[in-house]
Amino acid sequence: MDYIGFSKEELEEMLKTEQKKLSKIGKRGISIDMSRGRPAKEQLEIAMPMLEEAAVVNYELSGGDARNYGGLGGLRQARELFGDLLGLRAENVLVGDGSSLDFMYTAIQFAMQFGLRGNTPWGKLPKVKFICPAPGYDRHFAICEEFGIEMITVPMLDDGPDMDTVESLVVDDESIKGIWCVPKYSNPTGIVYGDKTVERLATMKTAANDFRIFWDNAYVIHGFYDNNDKLKNIFDVARKAGTFDRILTFASTSKITFAGSGIACMGASEENVVEFSRHLSIRQICPNKVNQALHVAFLKNVDNIKRIMAEHADIVRPKFELVDARLTAEFAGDEYVRWTRPRGGYFVSLDVRHCAKRIVELAKTVGVIFTPAGSAFPYHIDDNNSNIRIAPSVPSLEDLDMALEVLITAIKIARIELVLSKKK
Ligand SMILES: Cc1ncc(COP(=O)(O)O)c(C=O)c1O
Repeated sequence: MDYIGFSKEELEEMLKTEQKKLSKIGKRGISIDMSRGRPAKEQLEIAMPMLEEAAVVNYELSGGDARNYGGLGGLRQARELFGDLLGLRAENVLVGDGSSLDFMYTAIQFAMQFGLRGNTPWGKLPKVKFICPAPGYDRHFAICEEFGIEMITVPMLDDGPDMDTVESLVVDDESIKGIWCVPKYSNPTGIVYGDKTVERLATMKTAANDFRIFWDNAYVIHGFYDNNDKLKNIFDVARKAGTFDRILTFASTSKITFAGSGIACMGASEENVVEFSRHLSIRQICPNKVNQALHVAFLKNVDNIKRIMAEHADIVRPKFELVDARLTAEFAGDEYVRWTRPRGGYFVSLDVRHCAKRIVELAKTVGVIFTPAGSAFPYHIDDNNSNIRIAPSVPSLEDLDMALEVLITAIKIARIELVLSKKK
């Protein structure tokens, strides 16, 4: 709907109607939090048999007793499992505790403090910059802010970052040390990187020889349909191109078993694994291998993980389909309201030009919480004030429907207000 053609009086009338609708919903006293991509309670139930097995699981696996010290890089079987999931050999995988974000933070901390492979520690350089495709994952950007790494915003396209821009930046500037990538079912747009993008990232010329791609494969097996969306194996390309050192990959079972209480990994070249482990060995003796043994027993192999993820998909898919159906019913063909239709992951990315902050604010007044507008951009700067991240996994379908009613009404109010403000 293009509101521009309406008179001031007509717009004021429409605004009143939508405002009434919103305040009527507000009277129901709802409280629906859609700010983070968390599994719903029913999803968490799927992994409960893992805990029921805890007393009888075999902890004396080849290579030692999981209940004892030893095995800094994690249980062999857990390394193999993540290796199979990510297309890497077990030797290239370190398995730690519950959070992949922790691995990412630590990797940057080690680079800042100790430097990578004999290069000057990033913390001793006058400037360190990262390429941040946006919209992207707010917590990646928060890590950069924490370490004083300057963020360069690069547009996110339908098949990954705008590679012409990325290549032109990294080729000349030695202070650009990294790029954040969520290559499959990206947070928040849900896109999957195209083969060409993967190849270009792995083979592009970089001025910095300690440049790293932070390949956060958080949604590696999180498809809604047949888990069939294929991501090209970046390690194969990189090995051939002699750039394997450039890639650090991360994943976890946060959205396979328990969020924050699963197991997480970092995958890297043999040399990077050795260097990372050296620093890690000073900090800890070994990770929680009891939890790793439980996970190995429960998850078993990639085929079984696919079966488990199909159960997750059955819970999550209808919610994403509802978001799309409701938005389509209201805004199909509307050039001012655009959203993504992901085939996996945890988010829908919605764009309403110049209105995002107001929409989030309006929704909050009646108890529906979205991630703050602008969060998906470095320094929270969304030039167009347009992007809203929708995380539909937690609410029930009934609550989600209500939250979407609020969202749709808030979109209409914000847009009418905007057009009215220009008519004054
Ligand atoms: C892209 C991405 N990476 C990492 C994480 C967090 O993963 P973990 O629980 O393994 O720290 C999330 C959580 O939403 C995410 O969306």
